[in-house]
Amino acid sequence: MFDSGVGGLSIAQCINQHLPNENLLYVADTLYAPYGEKSSEFIQQRVNEIAQWFIERKAKAIVVACNTATVNAIDQLRKNILIPVIGVEPAIKPAVNLSKNKKVAILVTKATAQNPRFLALVAQYSQNSDVIVQPCPGLVELIEQDKKNASECKLMLTGYLQPLLEKGVDTIVLGCTHYPLVKNLINEICGNSVVIMETALPVTEQLQRQLALHQLINTSNNLGTTSFYSSKCCATQQALFNHIWQRPLQLNSYP
Ligand code: SIN
Repeated sequence: MFDSGVGGLSIAQCINQHLPNENLLYVADTLYAPYGEKSSEFIQQRVNEIAQWFIERKAKAIVVACNTATVNAIDQLRKNILIPVIGVEPAIKPAVNLSKNKKVAILVTKATAQNPRFLALVAQYSQNSDVIVQPCPGLVELIEQDKKNASECKLMLTGYLQPLLEKGVDTIVLGCTHYPLVKNLINEICGNSVVIMETALPVTEQLQRQLALHQLINTSNNLGTTSFYSSKCCATQQALFNHIWQRPLQLNSYP
């Protein structure tokens, strides 16, 4: 599995919990993060290169644990490789069904907000609801700089969330895998009456279904391993990974 950085770690934790016998390789493409500020062509190039690296290591499935990479590159990736590819789709349909006043917001990166595939998904699932797409430029950078508890992060998030609250939004979808890392802060700003929806569990369940469908589930009783790689492997990255994973891990250099 891979992400532009540490965002996918929340999904990795969920996969570890539900599929404990599988071996996980996690690649953070931190040297090129954030993907949300890059062109579609550039993201596709990165995704192809990382997928190739996984295939060389005999991966049996790939999880694109990044919303921006999913909307920009998953279709072409699925055409080019034979193993199952699982992406992250924001939970628009469940959010619309759950919202009491039918006012839903989706927090995304700039690249996702401009992506035709994503906008088509919003149009398809909006039904009679008011679905607001809120780009959050700068937020991934702050999370990657381990500033999620800094006052500038709260200030930035308040700037994005306050107009949504004023419009009466009662359900917020986290459409970027980095954003669950600031879920507490979002809760604090929005209060308990706003429901926050993330995608780690649906992605894990989809992976589980795909592995079962292709008879790829590891049936051994041995616990799997998780190996972590970063394209910007350094001491600060190592500290950030340890912090988010909540225990020390060994960060390796990608490729
Ligand atoms: C980013 O790299 O800008 C964010 C990744 C995501 O959309 O999940």
